[in-house]
Amino acid sequence: MTPPLFPQKSVVFGRRKGRPLRKTKTALVKDLLPSLEFQLSPEERPPLSLFKDLKPLWIEIGYGTGDHLISQLREHPHCNFIGCEPFLGGIADFLEKLSSLNLPLENIRLFTQDARSLLKGLDTNSVEKIFLLFPDPWPKKKHNKRRFLGNDTLLELIRTLTPLGTLVIASDHDDYYESMLTLVTQNKSLILQKQGVLLNSTDPLERPLFWPMTRFERKAHQAQRQSRYMILQKCTSVLPSLS
Ligand SMILES: C[S@@+](CC[C@H](N)C(=O)[O-])C[C@H]1O[C@@H](n2cnc3c(N)ncnc32)[C@H](O)[C@@H]1O
Repeated sequence: MTPPLFPQKSVVFGRRKGRPLRKTKTALVKDLLPSLEFQLSPEERPPLSLFKDLKPLWIEIGYGTGDHLISQLREHPHCNFIGCEPFLGGIADFLEKLSSLNLPLENIRLFTQDARSLLKGLDTNSVEKIFLLFPDPWPKKKHNKRRFLGNDTLLELIRTLTPLGTLVIASDHDDYYESMLTLVTQNKSLILQKQGVLLNSTDPLERPLFWPMTRFERKAHQAQRQSRYMILQKCTSVLPSLS
């Protein structure tokens, strides 16, 4: 990974590196990642600087091993995508899937630092859809403050979404899900369009927005934990007050 062009304060609490990567994945990180990865710089403000064609921009925060991001890439070639994941093992898994599928690469870019820095660097009203699927729950009370979604991050998410843009959130952790639901529904800039239980089904009618199981959803299902999702839309009439 190339070093950032200017210092970005990292507040990633989880692992950045795991077990050593296999040879093929090491090669992908060395050869493919540099062409997809970008850094934020004061001169070049994404998303305009990143993509050849101007298309709706979708972002996945914490894509893990990338199953969901890959499926969205396959299903929505008319969109540009930014995947944000700081864990090297996950990035390498995603690169392996991407390279095996022969998908075009001009509409996908990767950010390998903290997603909060990414949000701060994005233009206002620039992202059509943001996925935050199974963010780390940090279940111990003393670690709750490490959770990704708090009020400041929510305001940044809302700022970057286009009017009528969509925020999709899922979690298998009841306490985190409930606290996120309270937070988002208190915010007048968002409308809760839909929420429910993520059923273990391949029927597209029973899964929101053609959404395949992520690795963490699969793990939750195996452990017989229920996963829930919410879909929110940014209103056009009220703008968040960012102080
Ligand atoms: C519980 S995993 C879920 C992964 C994937 N979404 C899934 O459902 O399988 C949470 C992911 O968020 C990533 N993550 C943690 N903090 C992050 C941050 N500040 N910015 C972006 N990603 C982050 C972790 O590296 C991890 O891959």
